[in-house]
Amino acid sequence: MDGIKLYDGSDPAAVASVCETYSISTEEFASLRAKTVAAKATAYCPYSQFRVGAALLAVDESAAGATTWVSGANVENASYPVGTCAERVALGTAVVSGIKKFRALGVATDVSPPSSPCGMCRQFIREFCGTSMPVFMFDRDNNFAVLTVIQLLPMSFGPDSLPSPEELLANRPT
Ligand code: THU
Repeated sequence: MDGIKLYDGSDPAAVASVCETYSISTEEFASLRAKTVAAKATAYCPYSQFRVGAALLAVDESAAGATTWVSGANVENASYPVGTCAERVALGTAVVSGIKKFRALGVATDVSPPSSPCGMCRQFIREFCGTSMPVFMFDRDNNFAVLTVIQLLPMSFGPDSLPSPEELLANRPT
């Protein structure tokens, strides 16, 4: 776990304190966990048998900022590299449904300690989620870890890292 804290998901005091830190209610945490674990059951992973579920606690800006949820799971392929991770399935589904504001991401696997989003997913998450958004990683034993997007991807390259092509061209060193 590289010094990353592991929380006991069945300890109400631990859960309450984490929820306060990341500005989500304990009810939202319980739903995030339940939806993340439920999403795992929809994984298509005949090649690895490594099920990953993802769920997003999101804001529907077209419905007066109502809370909404989007789920995903890993979808593998006979041509192995073509498979897609759960996190990217969930985020892609949200974005094409018009949901672009996120408060938390949950990821669940069948292993313990918790698995964390792969490098490619960290970059994909960085595109759409705030750098201080929490990513909850649930393991098989009701324990979890939580890190923010910037903790998962320090000194990240995001949409705001790209000057316009015109600006780059105008300021190109000779
Ligand atoms: N996987 C995810 O869905 N998310 C991750 O962040 C790590 C890996 C999937 C990809 C593949 O289907 C399986 O887990 C084994 O790598």
